[in-house]
Amino acid sequence: MKTALLIGATGLVGKELLHKLLECDQYEKVITVTRRPIEVVNDKLEQLVINFDDLDKCRKLFEVDTVFCTLGTTMKKAKTKRNFVKVDFDYPVNAAKLALDRGASQFFIVTAMGANQHSPFFYNQVKGNVEAAIEQLGFPTLYIIRPSLLIGHRNEGRFGEDVGQFITKALPFLFKGPLQKYQPNEARSVASAMLNLSLKEQTGTFIVESELIEEYK
Ligand SMILES: NC(=O)c1ccc[n+]([C@@H]2O[C@H](COP(=O)([O-])OP(=O)(O)OC[C@H]3O[C@@H](n4cnc5c(N)ncnc54)[C@H](OP(=O)(O)O)[C@@H]3O)[C@@H](O)[C@H]2O)c1
Repeated sequence: MKTALLIGATGLVGKELLHKLLECDQYEKVITVTRRPIEVVNDKLEQLVINFDDLDKCRKLFEVDTVFCTLGTTMKKAKTKRNFVKVDFDYPVNAAKLALDRGASQFFIVTAMGANQHSPFFYNQVKGNVEAAIEQLGFPTLYIIRPSLLIGHRNEGRFGEDVGQFITKALPFLFKGPLQKYQPNEARSVASAMLNLSLKEQTGTFIVESELIEEYK
């Protein structure tokens, strides 16, 4: 029986993953750390609402087998590059350090297709930087999940995702052959792939690109 800590459980991928973890018999306990309460009640669930600048104060919660990080923001929400870096780099790296310090053996981080420290694009650069910083820590098992555009149901509208969803449904033949990797990933497929991989008990660092997400889901 395993225990998990999920960071980002109110997000598109995080919500799906929480649901799957709670349904999975191999997980006996699931802890969530969020900045606002989650309306899910389950005997296996322990939830803590915090300010992520104080993540260090809940270091004991990191005494689990697996930590899943699905945190992220957008430039539209963050407004400044500094705020964006805080959510997409600082918080995940702090979480990874705490996880390693408290003995978690598996760490999962969702970054994005095109993550690259040397990218000319700020978003891809930050995603590449967070991958590199966490990889350097030396987890026994690290999974870096790189989805394409995510699709799924959100309360807020996101133009790019709505267009992606429309194209995927209307023109599915577009994503064949070399363009297959650009096919948007359903948030629930990303969550399934993460759960399934966490049960494999492999060691090493694994980069899971968008097409592989579809294979492992
Ligand atoms: N959207 C895409 O098409 C896409 C494509 C590729 C990769 N990705 C990446 O995949 C990951 C998951 O994406 P997603 O769409 O599931 O994300 P999402 O729905 O935007 O959820 C992000 C999570 O991060 C939390 N968060 C954001 N700002 C925070 C802050 N200042 N303090 C504490 N928590 C904060 C959110 O909490 P609240 O609910 O309280 O805001 C939420 O739980 C992200 O890293 C994203 O960059 C996204």
